[in-house]
Amino acid sequence: MLRTAVLAASSDHRVRRFVSTSPVTRGVVNRFVAGEDVSAGVGVAGRLCEAGLRVSLDVLGEDAIDRQRAYESAMTYRDLLRALADAGLTPATEVSLKLSSFGQAFDAPLARELAFGVCQAARDAGTCVTVDMEDHTTTDAVLTTVAELRREFDETGSVVQAYLRRTEADCRDLAVAGGRVRLCKGAYAEPSSVAFTRQTEVAASYARCLAILMAGRGYPMVATHDPALVELAGRLAGAVAGAVAGGTAGLVEPDPGGPRPRPFEYQMLFGVRPGEQRRLAGAGEVVRVYVPCGREWYAYLMRRLAERPANLLFFLRALRSSR
Ligand code: FDA
Repeated sequence: MLRTAVLAASSDHRVRRFVSTSPVTRGVVNRFVAGEDVSAGVGVAGRLCEAGLRVSLDVLGEDAIDRQRAYESAMTYRDLLRALADAGLTPATEVSLKLSSFGQAFDAPLARELAFGVCQAARDAGTCVTVDMEDHTTTDAVLTTVAELRREFDETGSVVQAYLRRTEADCRDLAVAGGRVRLCKGAYAEPSSVAFTRQTEVAASYARCLAILMAGRGYPMVATHDPALVELAGRLAGAVAGAVAGGTAGLVEPDPGGPRPRPFEYQMLFGVRPGEQRRLAGAGEVVRVYVPCGREWYAYLMRRLAERPANLLFFLRALRSSR
């Protein structure tokens, strides 16, 4: 409920002005956002890669309001990809993008054309793109565009949100050979007609979707900080490898001397459970950190505050003590 209230309040322009201009916001922004320009994102990516992590860089700027903004957004991604290649940070670093930042809401062909250009720039830079998922009114359009992108750039990743009731079916469609699929819980305020709203239901849906992706032929990208789901991913990956080797249809415990677990990666957000990110990487797992950068951090920050009451309390306490 708190989550829904924070997300609803975040669209009020007075809340936006207050949060955007309050000096205490800066500390909270710094925890979740690499910096306001692309070079800050490249710097953070470099440090994370040195620490044995992989990165997905996101240029903040969802909901472009006109064609000019959409073109600028695509241009920023192209510059970013060149900078990553020049810094030797590809392929360990890929990019994530939102089609709304390329104008999907008002000119879908333009968004598609710009996304094709960025996929080409990513391939030229030796890396790839994952297309973030936004609110449920865009799901079909985003998945359709990703399918079109994958015809030419089959390394392009898609994202599905476990809180949507439709997502188990989407996972079945997407778990094809070579399909890179990021599974997250979902970060938008959605109605119960399309989404599970209780946390227990969302976690159960996540577990079902994860089992489908792990048993499929694609490359699952397990985007969660939830300890139970992190642990489940490790177990499923081993069990699926065991099942394939043993020729059994169900999930079985892996043979200790047997095949390596099926390939997958964990993904977590910059600033969230960094100790766990390093622990998993130290244990030999592939861990990718999603790192946002750019000036348009407001909507991203509000989603992070809404996810966890403790973040909101931290922010409110800081506000009170600054008076
Ligand atoms: P949950 O919210 O239950 O958190 C589990 C635990 O993780 C918490 O108890 C806490 O310890 C920690 N935690 C989680 N969020 C935290 C936060 N903000 N601050 C501090 N601690 C926190 N969503 C979407 O709709 N479209 C997308 O494209 C993406 N992309 C994406 C990429 C990656 C790499 C990640 C990790 C996440 C996304 N998301 C997303 C966001 C996702 O949908 C979800 O909102 C968050 O990951 C939080 O959900 P968890 O699975 O972590 O569980």
